[in-house]
Amino acid sequence: MKLLVTGGAGFIGSAVVRHAVRAGHSVVNLDKLTYAGSLTNVAEVAESPLYAFEQADICDRAAVDAIFAAHRPDAVMHLAAESHVDRSIDGPAAFIETNITGTYTMLEAARTYWGAEGKPGAFRFHHISTDEVFGSLGPKGMFTEDTAYDPRSPYSASKASSDHLVRAWHETYGLPVVLTNCSNNYGPYHFPEKLIPVVILKALAGAPIPIYGKGDNIRDWLYVEDHAEALLLAVERGTVGRSYNIGGENEATNLELVQKICAILDEKRPGNAPYSEQITFVADRPGHDQRYAIDPARIRAELGWRPSVTLDEGLEKTVQWFLDHEDWWRALQDRDGVGKRLGSG
Ligand SMILES: NC(=O)c1ccc[n+]([C@@H]2O[C@H](COP(=O)([O-])OP(=O)(O)OC[C@H]3O[C@@H](n4cnc5c(N)ncnc54)[C@H](O)[C@@H]3O)[C@@H](O)[C@H]2O)c1
Repeated sequence: MKLLVTGGAGFIGSAVVRHAVRAGHSVVNLDKLTYAGSLTNVAEVAESPLYAFEQADICDRAAVDAIFAAHRPDAVMHLAAESHVDRSIDGPAAFIETNITGTYTMLEAARTYWGAEGKPGAFRFHHISTDEVFGSLGPKGMFTEDTAYDPRSPYSASKASSDHLVRAWHETYGLPVVLTNCSNNYGPYHFPEKLIPVVILKALAGAPIPIYGKGDNIRDWLYVEDHAEALLLAVERGTVGRSYNIGGENEATNLELVQKICAILDEKRPGNAPYSEQITFVADRPGHDQRYAIDPARIRAELGWRPSVTLDEGLEKTVQWFLDHEDWWRALQDRDGVGKRLGSG
């Protein structure tokens, strides 16, 4: 397949690009290279004849049209987005622009291209979204594909809007779309402003490890390489018009998660005292969703997908990756806002 991947220089997009090229697909990576994007994330495939890079903004219709015309993809995997909830609290405008207007622009460019190609039935527009569109759970229950949307942050509201647009382009214009909604990812190349890298890097720096509120918010963690595999299955074999929830069935409170990371670091890079002594509770994020949990029954039954690692195995690999790739994360630490408390309201 020839895949047009948007956001392929980001955390999850780069995992998709690396997996797809390894699997023998041709990949065009369309990325604006915002503060969150980095071509070092795809250095492994940069010289492959199967790989091409196009620096462009998904809101720039002329640029997106030219990329469709030049590369004639069989499918689009749309990941480009503003993705950090804390940044969406401080500055929602970029989230509205990229996540809503950018998705609209991608849909219109895809619809025009698909029409010009004679509306091939095999074409796919795969929209990659988040479980945060479903809102916040109490202690029981899980998000299924039928859970009503109830986004609560500017980030999740902008992603929910983009999901609605994608479904509307299918119902109204017949565009062959597939949607996926995934839980929190972690793993190699995770941008250093997100929770797990923050914990690892603060611990190594001997600095306070910040935990929002009481640390009792629950997330369902998924190793990014497992997510990339699920996404390739969904674009190749997913049913048109259908959405699939993707989750690791690995729920943990933020405090449990941080304690696990500290324990792994105590083994791998012992300090003078246990790293958990650096844990510091800080003021909570406004509107902080209490619990997310995904029921992945549909993608398991219909596409045969399962995560390959448990949370403990994935965290061990992730901590090791950060210990082995200091050059990668140090180079990103000067980027705008990284390492600062954002989104405190
Ligand atoms: N990180 C998670 O845990 C998670 C979970 C579920 C779903 N998602 C979704 O997966 C997708 C990827 O998330 P991520 O964590 O890899 O994000 P990221 O912030 O690491 O990467 C986003 C990428 O998109 C690019 N980009 C941003 N604005 C752009 C624009 N206007 N035009 C072109 N490129 C642009 C950036 O340069 C960057 O390379 C997002 O759509 C996100 O909503 C993320």
